[in-house]
Amino acid sequence: MAIRKLFTNARIYTPFDQGSPRSGKDQGVLRIFENGALLVENGIILSVGDEQKVRQDAINLEIHEEVDCCGRCMVPGFVDPHTHICFAANREEEFSMRLSGVPYLEILENGGGILSSVRSLREMDAAALFDITRENVLSALSFGTTTIEIKTGYGLDTESELKMLDVIQRIRRETPLDVAVTFMGAHAVPLEYKGEEEAFVDFLVEEMLPVVASKKIADFCDVFCEKGVFSIDQSRRILQKARELGMGIKIHADEVHDLGGAGLAAELEAISAEHLLAASKTNLAKMAEKGTIAVLLPCTAYSLKKPFADARNMIDLGLPVAVATDCNPGSCFCESMPFVFGLSVMHMNMSVEETLVASTLNAAYAIGKNKVAGSLQEGKKGDFLLLQGKSPAIFAYHAGVSPVKERYVRGERISF
Ligand code: NIG
Ligand code: FE
Repeated sequence: MAIRKLFTNARIYTPFDQGSPRSGKDQGVLRIFENGALLVENGIILSVGDEQKVRQDAINLEIHEEVDCCGRCMVPGFVDPHTHICFAANREEEFSMRLSGVPYLEILENGGGILSSVRSLREMDAAALFDITRENVLSALSFGTTTIEIKTGYGLDTESELKMLDVIQRIRRETPLDVAVTFMGAHAVPLEYKGEEEAFVDFLVEEMLPVVASKKIADFCDVFCEKGVFSIDQSRRILQKARELGMGIKIHADEVHDLGGAGLAAELEAISAEHLLAASKTNLAKMAEKGTIAVLLPCTAYSLKKPFADARNMIDLGLPVAVATDCNPGSCFCESMPFVFGLSVMHMNMSVEETLVASTLNAAYAIGKNKVAGSLQEGKKGDFLLLQGKSPAIFAYHAGVSPVKERYVRGERISF
């Protein structure tokens, strides 16, 4: 039997999906319904718009529940398109080292950083890893994230990477969030391959990637293309293999040094390139030509004390921009999309409208979830937030708190 719910008296702010991510002057295009309503049938949006129009659409239908949104602002649930939220332990000592001036990459070079997360994750069993991950993911949901991408990359051997993938699949099945899965076996070179980086790339390409692909449990493959981690040639080899095996491809590009990762993303027609703090204008222009999505992570710039990505220039170049938390235990421990929203507006000079598109519709495109999430439109899931505030500007205006008062996934209220 079809169960229908009608949400009325809402100020609806939503991007409008026309079949591609929004870019350039269109990055900030929204649909706004001051006196809006949303009709959900079995979790899927049947009608959205002015209340009068939605009531008209519902006229011959049985409505099982009507919810008065009390004039609150309604926006799509956030899509967080870049996280490393599956990890075993925090790295607070390392954060203190960074505060005293030790660079992020130097900590990694000395066997800490990502490699310390590899040690703790390898030691932990899947059940305990699931409990920790679930707690962090539910915290993200409390801040309004209803769709999330989660990367592996703290296992770096086949057994531990598969353990991460199993845990992420369990998160997908056992929490209300929709999850996109990214295999990131090329997150760092593990200690057992120190000095034999090429052999690790061979192992990834010849052994690990085929095993992961054969299980069909990862949607994307990502590489940390960075000085001292994976070179452009190594990244190209890994990503080409992933593509051959049917995976979508993404790149951690030009986070600390301008290695040319943004150019590689364009060359390989990756779905997205992420970070881009040090990317050159020439390579950004190549991305714009190919329609590669720029996933910006302002909370990482904040936490690494680096200049923020030049979002204005990227939007002017015509790149579709998305934003994400990058939630991880090292460079940025933050699962709050409202915080990312505030940083995007205040420090990347994006407008509120551009940021709403970046954190919903464009983010959904960046992880292949655009058919089901990212905007409040007929046929997509009824995933939305009710805010304490009149417009999405509240995310930047009311700093340091979450204005998310209620979250709905498939039309069902999630309570904590
Ligand atoms: O996106 N740069 C590589 N990966 C993550 C950090 C992971 C970590 O430090 O544990 C990032 O910043
Ligand atoms: Fe990352």
